[in-house]
Amino acid sequence: MRVTAIVNGQTRHADDVWEGESLLYLLRERLGLPGSKNACEQGECGSCTVYLDGVPVCACLVAAGQAAGRDIVTVEGLTPGDDLHPVQQAFLRTSAIQCGFCTPGLIVAVHDLLSRIPHPTDPQIREALAGNLCRCTGYEAILAAVRLAAREMNGEAE
Ligand code: FES
Ligand code: FES
Repeated sequence: MRVTAIVNGQTRHADDVWEGESLLYLLRERLGLPGSKNACEQGECGSCTVYLDGVPVCACLVAAGQAAGRDIVTVEGLTPGDDLHPVQQAFLRTSAIQCGFCTPGLIVAVHDLLSRIPHPTDPQIREALAGNLCRCTGYEAILAAVRLAAREMNGEAE
């Protein structure tokens, strides 16, 4: 089947999509958007998090066909061009990235959190990121990145 969707603001088509194919496969293998990562393919790790009609979802759990006609934003689409979003800059500045496999999903999840709660408490950050697993960092640097991104986005950074 042919799937047409708005992906990062552009109308994109993919042909010969298999009915059991995931949105994650569609994005990575057919549309050339490898930012969303495939770590578990079971909805357990959050590495594949993207926005679907403005709501963060695990792209590995969404059938590609379900995305037809909908609005998808991946980590590549959070800012225009090659610019980095303040959340991405904060992850770099706090060294919250090691292997980087969890990072794209975390970036989307933090982007969503800060759009809903501009000044999150640590418990709110932990709750919002509970579905995003990281095997490398121990999470402290990730918490620091979220706090820094919140300060930057609220114009409070020194
Ligand atoms: S790859 Fe989708 S949740 Fe792990
Ligand atoms: S940086 Fe390696 S899984 Fe998070």
